[in-house]
Amino acid sequence: MDKVTIENLSDYDGKEIELRGWVYNTRSIGKIWFIIFRDGTGLVQGVVVKGEASNEAFALKQKLNQEDSVIIIGTVKKEPRSVGGYELGIKDITIVNHVTEEYPISPKEHGADFLMSNRHLWLRSKRQNAIMRVRHQVVKAIRDFFDINGFTLIDSPIFTGNAVEGTTTLFEVDYFERSAYLTQSGQLYQEAGATAFGKTYCFGPTFRAEKSKTRRHLTEFWMVEPEMAYVDIDENMTWAENLVSYILDKVLAKCKNELNTLERDISKLENMKPPFPRITYDEAFKLLKERGSTFEYGNDFGAPDETILSNQFDKPIMIHRWPAEIKAFYMRQNDDGKTVAAMDVLFPGIGEIVGGSQREERLDVLKTKCADFDIPEEDLWWYLDTRKFGTVPHAGFGLGFERMVMFATGMTNIRDVIPFPRTPQNAEF
Ligand code: 4AD
Ligand code: MG
Repeated sequence: MDKVTIENLSDYDGKEIELRGWVYNTRSIGKIWFIIFRDGTGLVQGVVVKGEASNEAFALKQKLNQEDSVIIIGTVKKEPRSVGGYELGIKDITIVNHVTEEYPISPKEHGADFLMSNRHLWLRSKRQNAIMRVRHQVVKAIRDFFDINGFTLIDSPIFTGNAVEGTTTLFEVDYFERSAYLTQSGQLYQEAGATAFGKTYCFGPTFRAEKSKTRRHLTEFWMVEPEMAYVDIDENMTWAENLVSYILDKVLAKCKNELNTLERDISKLENMKPPFPRITYDEAFKLLKERGSTFEYGNDFGAPDETILSNQFDKPIMIHRWPAEIKAFYMRQNDDGKTVAAMDVLFPGIGEIVGGSQREERLDVLKTKCADFDIPEEDLWWYLDTRKFGTVPHAGFGLGFERMVMFATGMTNIRDVIPFPRTPQNAEF
């Protein structure tokens, strides 16, 4: 069924159409009044003129409330000064639901906490609408990218038996007579997938019991995780930069109005073309020292260090060859015996958006790593099997989906880019 929506109004210039949606605002000037109307795809202004609109419609002047659900009929007119470039000459208005209470979120400014506790209604606002529509396009771009490049989607489970990224951020759940964990990452299953299909990915919710309240952490967030057989750390970085630039290209092409609503500086997105600078952890350390940082070798970079590093370049930077102690057990040991083939992609203003590595494919080395990390081999018997039968060099990464949407939209708090954010303070509804 072909129903007209605000985003498609340009196809109906001069025609009489029907729109179904909600009242955003109304105002009147003398003999005419205006209805600012939303339908989820955008906003349009309807002009209600005595004599042109039905008497019933005109009589609704000052009687409609914000969020009344209404069906309007009118003629589409080009109006460059209006939002979206079109206006509607109203003929009829049918009220579906008249709101009798005052709507909590008026067009005036509200505090972040108030909006957070009214998330179910806040989603209707212009800004949230634009953010979620960009989020939608980022999902689509990711799926298309992997589709075009010959990856097979292999969904990783959410209930798991193992920690992937350390035991300190695990959510334990009562799973019948034993314990299971909410997944921190689908990676280990993708490694099984890559040896079965060559190139696979998963894209789903992941969980981290991170108590810290920061503007870039959620307890439930989405991660995209490709995994590729016969790929090393260098090719892995190439895949990561290509994915990122593909996503941003699509957002630029498909979300012009949304980016405009969000006042996003689009030159920031346009600049993100590969190649991204690749620097080793040691080089990053030197850079920090030269800039007077107190950073100590062997640590993970904190937010201030990431800012210093990002400010040296106008693109995301890829830091690789990390000290083994601060990275995960599964990362491939380099020949120096001290570093692993890990890489993080850091974005200006946000920090790490992608984390990945070449995996340790040698059974004996992996077993030693399990022992070093106190991981019982029995727990990972199936994972070790992938190293016993046809093991090959392989690599992959995880892209933090919400952090990517933060960058695309220019939002500074991760809570803004997910419809119903889960944080240590909030899992009520
Ligand atoms: O760097 P991480 O921990 O890497 C992994 O989980 C690997 N197993 C992925 C892989 O190689 N397949 O997480 C990947 C990304 C981070 O770079 C970050 O963008 C995001 O996930 N991330 C979070 N995003 C929001 N809230 C959190 N609490 C996050 N923790 C990680
Ligand atoms: Mg990481």
